Amino acid sequence: MMYSRLIKIVIATAFLAGGVAAQCDDGEGTDLLCYSEPGGVPQDVTVADIQYVASYLRAYGAQTKAGRQFTMTAADAPGCSEWTLYAHGTVLVLGKHLDSTVNSSVLFSDIANTIDGGVGATPAQQAAALIGCSTAGGSLGVVYNASNAQYNTADYLAKSYTPSGILVKIVSSSPQLAASVL
Ligand SMILES: *[C@@H]1O[C@H](CO)[C@@H](O)[C@H](O)[C@H]1NC(C)=O
Ligand SMILES: *[C@@H]1O[C@H](CO)[C@@H](O)[C@H](O)[C@H]1NC(C)=O
Repeated sequence: MMYSRLIKIVIATAFLAGGVAAQCDDGEGTDLLCYSEPGGVPQDVTVADIQYVASYLRAYGAQTKAGRQFTMTAADAPGCSEWTLYAHGTVLVLGKHLDSTVNSSVLFSDIANTIDGGVGATPAQQAAALIGCSTAGGSLGVVYNASNAQYNTADYLAKSYTPSGILVKIVSSSPQLAASVL
């Protein structure tokens, strides 16, 4: 099954990139920022590759009944760490621990929705998602519903997790181009 092979890649890259701490750019917030804006460098990614990574992450998240979560804790992801979520073609998707003082954990389905606006998204929903930045790429804080049962399980609460604190970034898979916005 293709997915099980891809999943191993996701897990491996998450761990490999785990020690890489980027500079925390104070200019980065949770609002949608497209790299076509002044001061940014368009990342020249394709919309097809953006859709591919969103669909992949959604499928990966759906492989357990409860839904897999992406977790960046204060201890494991300090100093504004940036971890690779997935890479495909022109696109590299990163999860950045924007608030390194909290233990962040979000559903992969919420990360996917943050990228493509959700399954069957309207043009307005797409425009408000990362895919709305089109070929330029950009960043957006993970969009979530804190009332979701998955963010209120005894286990989730016992670990003092919060769905806040993670920024999703769509950058070029070319290290030189990505370096201009990382
Ligand atoms: C994060 O998790 C660690 C380990 O479980 C815990 O000691 C710490 O209090 C948590 N931090 C927050 C801000 O909840
Ligand atoms: C958030 O989740 C709760 C619980 O599932 C649901 O009742 C509510 O409608 C959701 N809110 C939005 C805005 O989707």
